Amino acid sequence: MYTAVSRSVFTSHFWMRGVARIRVSRLSTSAKETPSETDTAVAKEIAGIAECKTPSKETKVEPRLQIVRVYRWNPEKPKVKPYMQQFSIDLNKCGTMVLNVLAFIKAQHDPTLSFRKSCREGVCGCCGMNINGVNTLACVTKVKESPKPLVIYPLPHTYVIRDLIPDMEQFLRQFHKIDQYLKRPGEDDFLGMRQILQSPRDRKKLNGLYECIMCGCCTYSCPPYWWLGDKYLGPAVLLQAYRWVMDSRDMAHEERLLKIRDFYSVYRCHTIFNCTKTCPKGLNPGRAIAQLKCLLAGLTKKEKPDLETAIPNFCQSEEQYLSKKE
Ligand code: SF4
Ligand code: SF4
Ligand code: FES
Repeated sequence: MYTAVSRSVFTSHFWMRGVARIRVSRLSTSAKETPSETDTAVAKEIAGIAECKTPSKETKVEPRLQIVRVYRWNPEKPKVKPYMQQFSIDLNKCGTMVLNVLAFIKAQHDPTLSFRKSCREGVCGCCGMNINGVNTLACVTKVKESPKPLVIYPLPHTYVIRDLIPDMEQFLRQFHKIDQYLKRPGEDDFLGMRQILQSPRDRKKLNGLYECIMCGCCTYSCPPYWWLGDKYLGPAVLLQAYRWVMDSRDMAHEERLLKIRDFYSVYRCHTIFNCTKTCPKGLNPGRAIAQLKCLLAGLTKKEKPDLETAIPNFCQSEEQYLSKKE
C-alpha cells in the first residue's frame, strides 16, 4: 500500500514538472517574433509541393485522338459489300488494349459492331484478329498512339460470319480429328479411378505445347493452309497432335501418327515459320511440326515413360475400391 501511494506521488510530481517545462518552452517559442530558418525552409517546401502537385481544377487533359479503321460486313444486308469503317477515338476515354477500343466503339459509336471476346486476358483464344497486318489477340495487344490509323480485319483467309467474327468450323473439325484427349487402350475399366503417373522430366516435355489456346492466329497466317486448308491440318492442330504424341501418359502414339501419315496432313508445311512469328503466346508450332515429321519418318522415336502406372489396377471397380478403403 505504502509503495503504491509513494509511487503515485512520485509520478504526479514528475508529470507536473514535465508539464511545467513544456509550458515554459511554448511560452519561449511564442515569444520569438521571427520564425527560425528551418521553419521558413519547411514552409517553402510545402508551398512548392502544393504548387507542383495539386492539379488545378481548370486544367484540361488533351484528347489523344486515334483513327481506327474496322472491317465491316453484315450478312443481313447482302447487297452492301464489305467496307472499312473509320472511327476517331479519344484514347483517354478507353482502356489500353485493342479489345478495349473495340468495346468502346461498340458502346459509344456503333452497337452493331461484332467481334468475339471472353476472358480479356489472353486465355480463351477467341479474340484472334488481324491488327495492323499481324494475326494476334486483341485483348493483349496495346494500342500505340500513332498518326497512322489502327487497321483491324478478321483473321485472313477465313469465311466471315459478320464483321470481325471468322468462321472457325473447319479449324475445330480438324482439331477433333487428332483426338485431343488422353488415350490408354484397354484401360477403360479404370477411367477416373487412379492417378496416371508422370515424372517431372516427362512433364517438362510438354512445356511450350500445352500453353496453346487454339486461337488460330498461326493457322491463318500459314500460306499452305490458305491454299489447302481442307486437307492440310495447319500449325495449331499439328502442335496439338505433337503434344498428345509426346505425352508420356498417352499410349496411342503409333495410332496417332498413323492417322496423319498422308500426303497432305503434315507434309504441306514448308517450314516458313510465319506461324511461330505470329503466335501471341510465344510458342513454336513450326518446330513442333518439324519434330512430328522426324517421328513420322522414323528419324526419332518416342521415349519410354520414366514412370509406369501398373496394370491392372489394384481396384477392379469403384465399389471394391470403397470397400477396401473401409
Ligand atoms: S512453318 Fe509450316 S505451319 Fe508454320 S507457317 Fe510455315 S508452312 Fe505454315
Ligand atoms: S500455337 Fe499460338 S497462335 Fe497457334 S493456336 Fe496456339 S496459341 Fe494460337
Ligand atoms: S478475350 Fe480471351 S484471349 Fe482475348
